[in-house]
Amino acid sequence: MKLSVIGAGYVGLTTAACLAQVGHDVFCSESDVEKLSKLQDGGMPLFEPHLEDVIKGVRKAGRLRFGSTEEAIAWGDAIFICVGTPPLPNGDADLCAIEGVARAIAKGASGYRLVIEKSTVPVQTGAQLRKHLSVHSTSGLRYDVASNPEFLREGTSVGDFLHPDRIVIGADSPRAAAILREIYEPIIKQSFTCPIHSDCPKRGDPIFLATDTNSAELIKHASNSFLAMKISFINMVANLCEVVGADVTMVAEGMGLDPRIGSSFLNPGIGFGGFCFPKDVQAFIRIAEKSGCDFSLLKEVEKINQGRVERFVEQVRNELWVLRGKKIAVWGLAFKPNTDDVRFAPALSIIRRLQAEGAHIQAYDPEAMEKAKKEIPDVTYCQDAYEAATGTDAVLLLTEWEEFRKVDWSRLATLVERPLIIDGRNALLREDVVSNGFHYIGIGGVSATPKEASALIGT
Ligand SMILES: NC(=O)c1ccc[n+]([C@@H]2O[C@H](COP(=O)([O-])OP(=O)(O)OC[C@H]3O[C@@H](n4cnc5c(N)ncnc54)[C@H](O)[C@@H]3O)[C@@H](O)[C@H]2O)c1
Repeated sequence: MKLSVIGAGYVGLTTAACLAQVGHDVFCSESDVEKLSKLQDGGMPLFEPHLEDVIKGVRKAGRLRFGSTEEAIAWGDAIFICVGTPPLPNGDADLCAIEGVARAIAKGASGYRLVIEKSTVPVQTGAQLRKHLSVHSTSGLRYDVASNPEFLREGTSVGDFLHPDRIVIGADSPRAAAILREIYEPIIKQSFTCPIHSDCPKRGDPIFLATDTNSAELIKHASNSFLAMKISFINMVANLCEVVGADVTMVAEGMGLDPRIGSSFLNPGIGFGGFCFPKDVQAFIRIAEKSGCDFSLLKEVEKINQGRVERFVEQVRNELWVLRGKKIAVWGLAFKPNTDDVRFAPALSIIRRLQAEGAHIQAYDPEAMEKAKKEIPDVTYCQDAYEAATGTDAVLLLTEWEEFRKVDWSRLATLVERPLIIDGRNALLREDVVSNGFHYIGIGGVSATPKEASALIGT
């Protein structure tokens, strides 16, 4: 099928590449001229595992092209809108880019188009889209509007898109539902050639859930808000553990063994960040407010998350006493591992707070330094974890990249001014750290290693 994708960010680029991978002819547009020319020249505007290879393959096969939004609108029978929906100062989602695309489609397209919202949008955005397509249509456009929320995670986006747990579509016409079913058929049947697994992990066929548009829009905001709630919940449990002398990793393990709870998203730390959870929780609170529902539960989720940065800085202050003039190493800048995305990354908030108290930061991240430099230029960016730690009074682990778990701690011990690790993600193998003479501080009262704990009961 001829498909268009508007917006070549983390979601749009993955969507375009994966839909081409499963056999569609895709045109992807991008309004940022620098990003677009990079893509047209075979480069990548962002880091996402496997994505570059998939793009290379489908471009070689002639199934993916990049260009302007006008060309994209002219090309596809179905148009996926994947532009950003950042937060406004009052928490509402900024739908400016969505509105701009709707207007361009209304003015530029003739004949039938299925317009698909893949960006995360407030409930009833579909209804607004329908209205604006009709108001601005100048060339006899016939259209349906559908919602198709995206659940991919940065860092694993290609695998998530090709092997999803579920595909949710919200359509208010049988024609729109049928087109979306056809688009996703190869993924539903898992009948494509997988570009990343020679032997695909058999996850079972994804569930194709068709709802009305409003419900599909709500599913996305409700899902992200629920996951954010789980994170804030375990972060409060971590605070409690620190006071009462329990170990949050063990508490989380014990909770997660209950299948009604599940173990994912029970990792305490410095709080959630990125381009989804913080803004989606805010937007969901606003949606509820405007509908007359006081979703105060989510206000607490947000408040707890905002408190994580200050609490972590306080931990650093407790250890280092005076921060002015101290050299501090920061390992990890991206909001999570395996991405270069630093939008709403807690690591950047922590750095800004430490700098405000006069600390000097030496930072290293495997992929996110280019993007971080644009946000906080006044940091010493380093080649690797060792250079970042050299001469420092503390090493703060703020993003749990795998390479930090493989550090040679005996070498590191010779480089630091003071052997202190503050692990904001409880990600390091504590016995390795401690056995090399470091003082280790984690989140939520983690001090005894799981090994020591089992030694206590003789297992
Ligand atoms: N990043 C994620 O993990 C994720 C996951 C699920 C859903 N989402 C949602 O998907 C949407 C996009 O997120 P993202 O992370 O890909 O954002 P992004 O900022 O990386 O990408 C959006 C892209 O759209 C481009 N754009 C804006 N207006 C345009 C136009 N008129 N024509 C062509 N391009 C245009 C921007 O330049 C940008 O490159 C958001 O609503 C987000 O909430 C994101």
